[in-house]
Amino acid sequence: MVIDIHSHFFPESWPDFSVRFGTPDWPWLKHLGNGEAMVMVGSREFRRIPQVCWDPVLRLEELDRQGLDVQVISATPVLFSYGRPAEEALEVARIFNEAALEMCSRAHGRLIPICQVPLQDIDLACAELTRSMKAGHRGVQIGNHVGMKNLDDPGIITFLHHCADEGAAVLVHPWDMMAPERMPNYMMPWTVAMPAETQLAVSALILSGAFDTLPRSLRICFAHGGGSFAFLLGRLQNAWTHQPLCRGASQFPPMHYVDRFSVDSAVFDQRSLKLLIDVMGEDRIMLGSDYPYPLGEQHIGELICTSDLPADSKTKLLSSNAERWLGVSTTTSDMDHESRAGQAKRDPTMRDTTTAVACPSGDNGSHSLEQQRMSGAPVDMQAPDRRFGGHDLSPEIQLTYGSYLHVPELLLLQQPSSPTHDELLFIIIHQTYELWFKELLHDLDAVVESLARVASRQWHDQVYEAARLLRRCTEIMRVLVNQFTILETMLPTHFMAFRGKLEPASGFQSEQFREIEFLCGLKDEKFLRQHAREPEAYARLERRFHAPSLHDVFFDALAAIGKLPAIPQNASEDERFQLRAEAIRNIYEDEHNYRDWIDTCERLTEFDELMVAWRLRHIQVVERIIGARHGTGGSEGAAYLRTTLAKRLFPELWEARTMLHQPDVTPAR
Ligand code: HEM
Repeated sequence: MVIDIHSHFFPESWPDFSVRFGTPDWPWLKHLGNGEAMVMVGSREFRRIPQVCWDPVLRLEELDRQGLDVQVISATPVLFSYGRPAEEALEVARIFNEAALEMCSRAHGRLIPICQVPLQDIDLACAELTRSMKAGHRGVQIGNHVGMKNLDDPGIITFLHHCADEGAAVLVHPWDMMAPERMPNYMMPWTVAMPAETQLAVSALILSGAFDTLPRSLRICFAHGGGSFAFLLGRLQNAWTHQPLCRGASQFPPMHYVDRFSVDSAVFDQRSLKLLIDVMGEDRIMLGSDYPYPLGEQHIGELICTSDLPADSKTKLLSSNAERWLGVSTTTSDMDHESRAGQAKRDPTMRDTTTAVACPSGDNGSHSLEQQRMSGAPVDMQAPDRRFGGHDLSPEIQLTYGSYLHVPELLLLQQPSSPTHDELLFIIIHQTYELWFKELLHDLDAVVESLARVASRQWHDQVYEAARLLRRCTEIMRVLVNQFTILETMLPTHFMAFRGKLEPASGFQSEQFREIEFLCGLKDEKFLRQHAREPEAYARLERRFHAPSLHDVFFDALAAIGKLPAIPQNASEDERFQLRAEAIRNIYEDEHNYRDWIDTCERLTEFDELMVAWRLRHIQVVERIIGARHGTGGSEGAAYLRTTLAKRLFPELWEARTMLHQPDVTPAR
C-alpha cells in the first residue's frame, strides 16, 4: 500500500463566479483542447494543468504507472477564496468539495478527498467541515494564513479544535506568498516564500502555546516537508532558550512540540529527508508529491525508496503514517474488487489497505545509483570522495567540520520532555554513554576478529592487535565509570521533576549494553526476549546471541596455539571450566614466552573489572538519586542491580589467579 497524501485536482468546469457574484478576477478554466487546460484568474494566465487534474480514469492510469495505490486529492490554493466575502467563499467551497467527491466516487476508493472551507469565517468553516466529513471527505486542506491572520489566530485555533472533534485530517498548504514585489522572477514565491510561509505557520502554532491547548488527537500535517521549519528549528530553539521575547506563550521549548504534527516528504533531496527524519522522527513524515504540478516529485516516492532507510521505516513513510493521519484502518476490508468499487460509490474513502507496501514508480523505486548521479541527485552522504581531508570535493559539497560530523543533526537530538533544567544533562549523559557503547562494540568486534584469525591459524601476531584494541576498550570503560560523577550533580528532586515522563523507558532497554554483554559472552535469553517488540534491535541481539563470543574465540585461539588441550566431548561444564582456567595459569607461569598473551589476559581482566566498577557506580548513582524506589523499567531498582554485581565476563581469568603456583625465581641483581 503506497499512499500519497499531497496531490491536487481541478474540476473540469464550474459556474462562472464573476457572473454569479458580479465581481472580477475569479479563477476559471480555459480548455486548450489537447488534454490540457489553462487556469485563468480573470484575464491572467495562472497555470497550465493536465487532464489528470479532472479525469479520474486518466488519473488512475497514472497512479498505476507510478505504482501508487491511493492518492489524497485537495483543491489548489488559488481556489480558497479567503479574500472574498465569506458567503461567497462558502458557496465556492461547496462546489469544489462536491466536485472532489464526484471525482473520487469514480476512482474505486483510490482517490481520497479532503475539503476546503471558508476559513475567513470560523462558524461557516466549522459547518462546512462537518457537512463535508459527513459527505465523505477525510479531512480538510487549509491555507497557512488568512490575510493577516496566522494559524495562531484564536478563530483558526477554534477551527482546529473542531477538526480534532470531527476526526478530520488537516493539511496546511502555503499560499498567498509573502513579499511578491521582491520575487518577480524565477518562481521564487514557490521556492523561497512557500517554505518560509510554512515555517511561519508552524512557529506561530508552537510559540502561541496553541499546542498546549489543542488536543493530541488533532492530526495536522504541513506540506512541503514543513518548509524551512526542520532546518531552522535549532535557531528557534536557541532563541526560545536565550531570549524571553522569543518564547511567546509556549510552555516548553519548540523541540518539545515536534511530535504534535506531521509533514510530507516533498523535500527532493536525500540530505533534507535525512534531516527531516532526524528532527521529526520517522512516524511523522508521509509521502507527499504535490502531483501533478511541475515543482512536485516526478517519480512519486523515489526519494523515500532510494533512501537508505530500512524497509519498515520506508513502510511508515509510504503508507502507515498516512493511514494513521487519515484515520483509515489497515484492516478495513477483505471485499472483492466488485464490492469494493460498489462500496467506494457510497464511501469514496473506503479501500482495502491490507496489502504489503512496495515502493512506487512502477520499478519499485529501484532507480539505480547511476541514474541518480546522472540526474544530479545526491547519492550517498558517506561516499568516499567526501571524506574529511579528501581532495575530490566538488565546490558545492565542500566539507566543513559541522557537515562531516553532522553537528547540526547531533545537536537536534536532545529534546527534553519538560522545562526542568537538568533534563538536558540527563539526556546528554545517556546519549554519550550510547556513543561510547557504539565505539566499544566496534573495537570489541575487531578484537574478536583478530582472535578468530589466531584461532584459524592465519596470523599469530594478531594477538598483539587484540591487546592493543583491548587497551582502548579499558580506557573507554574507565571514562564511562567516571562519567557518572557528572550526573551526580543533579539533585534527586530535580530528577523527580521529570522522571514521571520517562516511564516505561529504562536503561534495561539499552540494546547496545546488552550487545556488549552478549558479545563478551554473558548471554541471557531473558534479556533477548525483552527486545521482542523491536524487530530490528531483536534481530541484532539475536545475531550476537548465536555468534561466537569474545570468550569463545579467546579460548579457541588458545587451543590453536596449543595452550588449551582438546576438551573431551563428555566433559562436564565444571571440568571444561577447570581446563580453561589451567590454560590461563600455564600462560602466566610461562611469562617469557607468552608476553603478548599475558597482556591480552590482563586487558580482558581489566575490562571485566571495569564492567563491575561501572555496575557499582551505576548502583551508587541510582541509590543517590532515587533511593530504594523501583525502576522505570519495572525492576526493584538498586536491589535488582546489586544482583548483577556478581556477573563476570571471563571467570576463568579470575580463577587462574587462585591456581597459580609460587614462582621459582632467583632475585635479580
Ligand atoms: C538518574 C540516573 C539513573 C537512574 C535513576 C537509573 C536507574 C536505573 C534502574 C532503576 C535500573 C534497573 C532497571 C529498571 O527497573 O529500570 C537501571 C538499569 C540500567 N541503567 Fe540506569 N539509571 C540511571 C542512569 C543511567 C545511565 C547514565 C546509564 C548509562 C547508559 C544507565 C544505564 C542502565 C543500564 C544499561 C541498565 C541495565 C542494567 C542491567 O540490567 O544490568 N543508567 N537504571
